[in-house]
Amino acid sequence: LCSTHISQLPTEILLHLFRYLGPEDLCHCGQVSSAWSDLAKTGSLWRHLYPVRWARGDHYRGPPADLNQEPEEEWVKSLQDEGKAYQEWDEDADVDESDETCEDSLAISSAQREKKLLNEMIQNLLPAVGSSVRSIVLAYSSTVSSMQFIARPIIWSSLGACPSLEHLDLSGCEKITDHTLKKLSISQKRSDRQAKLLKSPPPISLLDERILHLMGGSRQALIFKQRTGTRCSSPSRVWVLDPSELADIEDAAEWNRRGGVSTPEGRGFVATKPGGSCCCRRSRRRGLRTSYSTSYWQQQYGLGEACCGHSTCCTGEMALRACGGLQCLSYTTTGSAGAEFWTKCSSGGQRCLELYNRTDQSDARRSLRFLSLSGCYRVTDLGLRALSQRGGLPFLEHLNLSGCLLITEVGLQELVSACPALNDEHFYYCDNINGPHADTASGCQNLQCGFRACCRSGE
Ligand code: FES
Repeated sequence: LCSTHISQLPTEILLHLFRYLGPEDLCHCGQVSSAWSDLAKTGSLWRHLYPVRWARGDHYRGPPADLNQEPEEEWVKSLQDEGKAYQEWDEDADVDESDETCEDSLAISSAQREKKLLNEMIQNLLPAVGSSVRSIVLAYSSTVSSMQFIARPIIWSSLGACPSLEHLDLSGCEKITDHTLKKLSISQKRSDRQAKLLKSPPPISLLDERILHLMGGSRQALIFKQRTGTRCSSPSRVWVLDPSELADIEDAAEWNRRGGVSTPEGRGFVATKPGGSCCCRRSRRRGLRTSYSTSYWQQQYGLGEACCGHSTCCTGEMALRACGGLQCLSYTTTGSAGAEFWTKCSSGGQRCLELYNRTDQSDARRSLRFLSLSGCYRVTDLGLRALSQRGGLPFLEHLNLSGCLLITEVGLQELVSACPALNDEHFYYCDNINGPHADTASGCQNLQCGFRACCRSGE
């Protein structure tokens, strides 16, 4: 019998094993060697961040939708007590945070752990995996709520490192102010370079989710059609990918970018009608995951630089397609408003349309879908205005402003007009405001809640 040392395992196997680890164990693994450190910073391992929970021993790493959204009152109260104890201690201790007399306090050490974890996350993790992060849950964070937390502004600027952030939960962070929302809005503002990059299609991961949404969440077929460019002469190319492998493809591309070696075998991948030349040799768009994925597969399947997948590089019809069984039809039409994207699913029989408008596409990086400011009672209309500026939040579906006592219908109207995807069922604000969608929006969620602000508490 021959034995294999763990260091000899292929990268894919190691990564698969890493998926079973909690964040703390992952960080420990990252200290084993530089190779493991790189692997532990693979983006798909860090899609959803819960620093508040992690600091208290709950190492859940799945999507927020799978969590019970309403936390237990006792748990929240203990967090608030921790925050208060820590704040008082922090004020008394001035800058000396290693005061031995406080080490016995469980509450303070939990808050300290959270602060340390947040700092580590901001300084070491987000720069490496920020582009893969989808969710950040900071609900009831004692650190974010601490006025003394000097790194707080850094959190908001760090959100700029998470261009694909979809879920931000700040429930119960009572120190959140208009200034914070302004920072958040600015952090999501695309840079000139991003704007330039976004003239080509968004990354697969973003597109994946958008099309899934259009298709009612079905993973049966994912298809997108790229814009016709001007440079190459080949008429059409279609790539077929297995959707379940998209995350792996992104990982492989990421390792490839870092100079590592990874050769996943046996992936379902078909390229038709390769040919033509590509300008990618001259101008690679290093900012887009699609570029890495594509170049990886080009090398693997001997396609050379022929099929870069960039709409701006190649002419002719070109599509990148991911199908779980070829049970779908797709085609595009071009109109004055841009290319229209049609998909017909054989199972559902329904027809989905995405207006693949180049102008809309430039907002892809303002990808927030869920924002909870429940209990953030310091927020005013100025904060809402800040969120509505710079293109608003085009994909926002869930907005919780329960307990925001100082906002008015004017501020709400302004924000809602910049959130075209808002779902009234998931739109919460104070019952005393006669704001937008008053008949269909949900009311304040904090009426029966003893631990988040509400103008009717005590009634
Ligand atoms: Fe007014 Fe809750 S904030 S009803």
